[in-house]
Amino acid sequence: MRATMKSFRVRLIAFGIFVVVILLLAGGVFVVQAQAQATPQQPVPFPHVNMVQSGIPCLFCHADAIRSPTAGIPSVEKCMGCHKFIATNTPAIQKVADYYQRGQPIPWVRVNRLPRFVYFSHQVHVVAGALNCERCHGDVGRMTEFQPVARMTMGWCLNCHNAQPEADRLKDCVVCHR
Ligand code: HEC
Ligand code: HEC
Ligand code: HEC
Ligand code: HEC
Ligand code: HEC
Repeated sequence: MRATMKSFRVRLIAFGIFVVVILLLAGGVFVVQAQAQATPQQPVPFPHVNMVQSGIPCLFCHADAIRSPTAGIPSVEKCMGCHKFIATNTPAIQKVADYYQRGQPIPWVRVNRLPRFVYFSHQVHVVAGALNCERCHGDVGRMTEFQPVARMTMGWCLNCHNAQPEADRLKDCVVCHR
């Protein structure tokens, strides 16, 4: 009787370890996939840190954020407005200059994208809501390669809406699903 109990316990522990190993493996795969999605390879490396720490404000490049639903990405003409004079000889800036000379926009890979059935507006959040960019996007001004800090799910939106004084209005389905 004792012996069977003991071997049962050993098998139970072995099974426990098996389950933990499987969970760790599954978790590892999930993390790797999430990261692969998180930082796509951009056509030109774009180090936010170099420009923001040189004193260029977010809105200089993402000006649409205060006047429209989208924040917008600056054109290659805008890049060359500075890079005809700044860091002109680095491999990355040479690539930017090549796009400019060919008259082609840089095909940046979009990172944050909501499904089409969701309505979001930068203007509302940044102007009326007075939220700064970092609140939703993290410390972009220190990033060498843009990395999303939040998974922008419905729960993520509602978490903040629920904490607002007008939470009742902001929780309504038609606010985001029009
Ligand atoms: C000199 C121009 C410039 C400045 C200044 C700048 N950005 Fe950007 N930003 C870009 C470009 C170009 C991209 C596209 C490449 C990339 O994703 O890294 C981008 C991408 C982003 C994205 C990701 C867009 C997506 O695909 O989801 C966010 C968020 C963002 N910027 C926020 C900020 C914030 C916040 C600041 C200020 C702290 C800032 N940016 C300053 C040019 C700029
Ligand atoms: C308002 C001026 C300004 C604009 C507009 C601007 N940059 Fe810059 N950029 C800078 C400054 C200043 C630096 C820092 C100088 C350095 O790193 O040597 C810099 C640095 C960089 C670097 C790092 C240089 C290297 O290769 O080591 C890259 C890459 C770059 N910018 C790409 C871009 C791209 C792409 C755009 C357009 C989306 C852009 N920049 C728009 C001013 C600007
Ligand atoms: C309340 C949260 C929130 C704030 C605050 C916010 N963003 Fe965003 N941002 C988002 C969401 C959500 C998306 C994805 C939108 C979509 O797919 O329609 C996004 C997408 C972007 C994009 C890529 C798509 C586009 O709109 O062009 C850029 C660039 C960007 N944000 C920059 C900024 C900047 C710069 C600021 C500050 C001026 C800012 N954001 C403030 C939530 C926010
Ligand atoms: C960090 C807080 C925060 C997050 C995250 C956030 N919101 Fe908001 N949102 C607000 C605030 C605050 C307002 C109210 C602004 C005002 O009118 O004063 C608002 C207002 C809105 C409005 C306008 C409502 C109206 O009719 O006036 C829409 C649409 C909206 N949010 C969609 C979204 C979606 C979609 C997401 C997620 C992708 C999201 N929000 C994430 C804080 C947030
Ligand atoms: C503050 C914004 C916001 C509000 C309010 C909101 N949603 Fe959503 N909803 C989202 C976002 C963002 C997504 C897409 C991301 C996701 O699937 O989590 C979404 C996705 C969904 C989906 C698709 C889920 C899926 O798995 O694809 C359904 C269904 C949905 N919402 C129903 C509702 C209903 C019903 C309400 C009202 C009780 C509501 N939503 C209120 C932002 C919102």
